[in-house]
Amino acid sequence: MINIAIDGHVCSGKSTLARALGRKLGYHVLDTGAIYRGLACAYRDRGLTQINEEEIKRFVDSVNVKVAFDGQVQRVIVNDKDYTPYLREEEISILSSKISPYPYLREKVLSIQRDFAKKYNCILEGRDIGTVVLPDADVKFFVTARPEIRAKRRAEQLNDKSITFEQVLKDLEERDYKDEHRAVAPLKVAPDAIVIDTSDDTLDETMDKCIRAIKKNR
Ligand code: DC
Repeated sequence: MINIAIDGHVCSGKSTLARALGRKLGYHVLDTGAIYRGLACAYRDRGLTQINEEEIKRFVDSVNVKVAFDGQVQRVIVNDKDYTPYLREEEISILSSKISPYPYLREKVLSIQRDFAKKYNCILEGRDIGTVVLPDADVKFFVTARPEIRAKRRAEQLNDKSITFEQVLKDLEERDYKDEHRAVAPLKVAPDAIVIDTSDDTLDETMDKCIRAIKKNR
């Protein structure tokens, strides 16, 4: 199977790139962040308020996580409940960032990701794909863009006039810092990754660069 790893910063354009590459190459695309988000939804549903190693372990041992595809739409199902409609809620963004550093939970997500990569020609998109999940991926990309550009994209997504651009930029830089400095699976560029800066390129230009690299490397 051919496996492509895409990691990168928040709002770097990695999800858009992964989906576009998936369509172009006819590969499955796994949004790995959505799995952490699905687990966060189930955690909230249980009414769990404490977050510590013991609670996380009990929770992880009691859940069965499945990823399914509805055409291009990835669904995340935990203990037979489909959490797809709730994955993008702000509360879930916050909760998933709190539970995702726990190694016991990451182990569970790791096996789902590796099973997927064994079954399909695919693109896995996340934070630690090239470094931890698929260290032997055929091609690895690390996607980034200048912080100001990413903050502009984030502000457009939020479309909330009460939040200033400076605040969005500050939040984004704090998230970068957390992602890059956490003890477990921090966001970093794999030594053999190709760095793609999307600051000044259109999606087509970025796609061309990636397709050329895939043809050369696989
Ligand atoms: O990419 P995202 O915002 O959907 O990710 C949700 C959370 O999961 C985020 O806090 C980072 C975490 N995550 C992770 O730790 N490892 C991954 N491979 C993907 C996401």
